Amino acid sequence: MAGRIPQQFIDDLLARTDIVDLIDQRVRLKKAGKNYQACCPFHNEKSPSFTVSPDKQFYHCFGCGAHGTALGFLMEYDGLEFLDAIDEMAAMHGLTVPRESTGGSSPQQQAAARAERQDLYGLLNDISQFYQQQLRSASAAIDYLKGRGLSGEVVKRFGIGYVPDQWDSVKRRFGKNRDTERQLIDGGMLLQNDNGRVYDRFRDRIMFPIRDRRGRTIGFGGRVLGDGTPKYLNSPETPVFHKGRELYGLYEVRQAHRNPERILVVEGYMDVVALAQFGIDYAVASLGTSTTPDQLQLLYRTTREVICCYDGDRAGREAAWRALENALPLMQDGRSLRFVFLPDGEDPDSLVRTQGQQAFERLLDNAQDFGDFLFERLAQDSMGGDAGQHELAHKAAEAIMRVPEGFTREGLVTQLSRQLNWGENERRIKELFARLKPAEGEKNRRRARKNSS
Ligand code: GTP
Ligand code: MN
Repeated sequence: MAGRIPQQFIDDLLARTDIVDLIDQRVRLKKAGKNYQACCPFHNEKSPSFTVSPDKQFYHCFGCGAHGTALGFLMEYDGLEFLDAIDEMAAMHGLTVPRESTGGSSPQQQAAARAERQDLYGLLNDISQFYQQQLRSASAAIDYLKGRGLSGEVVKRFGIGYVPDQWDSVKRRFGKNRDTERQLIDGGMLLQNDNGRVYDRFRDRIMFPIRDRRGRTIGFGGRVLGDGTPKYLNSPETPVFHKGRELYGLYEVRQAHRNPERILVVEGYMDVVALAQFGIDYAVASLGTSTTPDQLQLLYRTTREVICCYDGDRAGREAAWRALENALPLMQDGRSLRFVFLPDGEDPDSLVRTQGQQAFERLLDNAQDFGDFLFERLAQDSMGGDAGQHELAHKAAEAIMRVPEGFTREGLVTQLSRQLNWGENERRIKELFARLKPAEGEKNRRRARKNSS
């Protein structure tokens, strides 16, 4: 792991950064007395109540109460985590972020690793450009994309490209020396077999670049043109690509909407792109099996409402259940999580094509709230009779305890007592939760220990 960033560096960085400059590059500011003003980027308004103070190096919105420092603004507005925001800020000043040695590797080694990562981003970006350029002269690939109903505009917006049917198109172009070849192997673009022969991982595929929140290309998903297997081939985990922490299409959603009202989570690359083509430009794909806690965290940093879209079959419901379990600790007040289950044999791509944007969005408007999904599922799982009631009460209470305190959680408790026909019998509900509390507390502590190690 990389070491800590020296506090001194962060302090210097903050001291060097002028909040007026930083915000003005993103939201046009107007001078008003000794402060600056604009319409607030964090809520909808017609007259400006967002002010920036150069003296205090603070922003404040009198409309919605948003306020903070330059760093806070960057995190909120660009949807970045702390470390990414520091990186971004350093880049504005042409600096690289130093790391304190953790004893594992020397500062020199860490600096080398960092430089390599930086290069890898550039390299992957160049490769993405190369794939897009290859697409222009690949008639079979163009026909395939047309056949799937994609317009040139949406193909361009998502940077979709094509890699020719050759063993060395990337290797020949980008792996000219040992160092770049090594880098391409580390970046998942080249493979080396037992005889030491090095060749392209992706051949004769439609290439979807996966971009991080800052728009840097970090990996690819590649689809065969026909019925070959595997249908999709994805970049492996690399120094810059961690599947469970990225969402395909999130960058593109953020390009279309500063503050998306809702984000739809679907399974496939094609679903995201087809939905965008039909005007539903707020969908992301979870790049693998289930939606991870990191991905949900990322989503709630960008929007308040997440709608997860799954197949209506058993596997789809299982995936939804796993997403629900991962989301419970994040369900603080003001956030919403809902589920849509699609008819048999349909996916968002096929559905939006046959039904159109409006009908699809009606499905979203009627999505099932996570609380309803939770109780429906628990009721299905439990047996009838008293034992069943008891089991249901217990499991539901356990789930509810994982939701942060607040109105959402209280609402779930009310829903539970209704479900159990306990009416307003507060005493019984209180007893149920009181019995669970110590055990749950211990479990949470254990979980926290596990996650921090
Ligand atoms: P299209 O056939 O192009 O419409 O794809 P789809 O998205 O409808 O395919 P499917 O529902 O089969 O897969 C959904 C997602 O699962 C894909 O977007 C991939 O991310 C992943 N996936 C599908 N097939 C494979 C595979 O063979 N290997 C891997 N690694 N991932 C796959
Ligand atoms: Mn599909």
